[in-house]
Amino acid sequence: MREVLMRLSIVVVVITVVKIKRIEGVRAVLVFGDSLVDSGNNNYLPTTARADSPPYGIDYYPTHLPTGRFSNGYNLPDLISQHIGAEPTLPYLSPLLNGRNLLVGANFASAGIGILNDTGIQFVGILRMFQQFVLFEKYQQRLSAEVGEAQAKSIVNGALVLMTLGGNDFVNNYFLTPFSARSRQFTVPQYCRYLISEYRKILMRLYELGARRVLVTGTGPLGCVPAQLATRSRNGECVPELQQAAQIFNPLLVQMTRDINSQVGSDVFVAVNAFQMNMNFITDPQRFGFVTSKIACCGQGRFNGVGLCTIFSNLCPNRDTYAFWDPYHPSQRALGFIVRDIFSGTSDIMTPMNLSTIMAIDSNIY
Ligand SMILES: *[C@@H]1O[C@H](CO)[C@@H](O)[C@H](O)[C@H]1NC(C)=O
Ligand SMILES: *[C@@H]1O[C@H](CO)[C@@H](O)[C@H](O)[C@H]1NC(C)=O
Repeated sequence: MREVLMRLSIVVVVITVVKIKRIEGVRAVLVFGDSLVDSGNNNYLPTTARADSPPYGIDYYPTHLPTGRFSNGYNLPDLISQHIGAEPTLPYLSPLLNGRNLLVGANFASAGIGILNDTGIQFVGILRMFQQFVLFEKYQQRLSAEVGEAQAKSIVNGALVLMTLGGNDFVNNYFLTPFSARSRQFTVPQYCRYLISEYRKILMRLYELGARRVLVTGTGPLGCVPAQLATRSRNGECVPELQQAAQIFNPLLVQMTRDINSQVGSDVFVAVNAFQMNMNFITDPQRFGFVTSKIACCGQGRFNGVGLCTIFSNLCPNRDTYAFWDPYHPSQRALGFIVRDIFSGTSDIMTPMNLSTIMAIDSNIY
């Protein structure tokens, strides 16, 4: 009898330990960058770059209300968090981000920003990268106050970090006007090298601040988004000069992340080939169940690519059949295909390894 009781209590102890480990074992997610990953910080800022009114969020489950995400529903960080069994990260500026919520992570992204401080100046009060890092330091102080310094450090070191930057440095800076200051200063290849040298500083700063596993997305096919088709494309073909810029920038980014990894002696930075992942459904939309990859679901004018997505725009009845939700951003369903590739893509699109592999390796460390 005694022995049975003792065995039982051992079983109970083991189960309890496993349960705690499972809950605490879900890693935090930290998000930095632009509108592709902003989950609502801009709602709290004096800026025109916002997605906090209908029909944004029309498919957002369960509220069907706008949240500040530049999507008809979930955005990229949401889908990645779901995939690893984590709660979605709250925008850092949200008043709901406090107490135990801090352990889930935080989203510092701000629509309109770029690698350079002069990118997106037309959007006025947005959080540039250096400001996102100031908030990240504040976050770490608040997390320390909640769980203690050692635990806070281990949460940050163990976090999955997502960094999405670069697209705006082209479309909302270099190519914004025909004779932009940056295009008079640099040729496209020179500009790409300059961007990469600044991006390297940003990533090194992120490493200094404690990030140890960072997905770094390259720019998408900038010349294929409905906004560019509307203004620069004759018959709906992707705009060559923007496509070429992305194809110069992206390989340099892969090389730069490789260089930093060898410098720090570990595969901290993982390059995500967002260009290829988007091109898959852009070049063969029907294979992915889309009726079009050229016309935005929400917008007006040519390809629904003119102006902003607002309550007065044309709106497609079924968002799942459109690759692009608005003139710049993929639909929730298209993002699902990107996330699938992030988790299981081969090493030519996830360099040096995909997120399934990362999760498996890291589950043995943290
Ligand atoms: C952006 O501005 C911040 C603060 O003034 C500065 O520290 C940083 O070096 C600037 N970045 C670039 C790329 O000029
Ligand atoms: C990526 O992930 C899948 C599992 O989904 C795995 O089978 C595959 O080998 C991985 N590929 C690479 C190149 O790491």
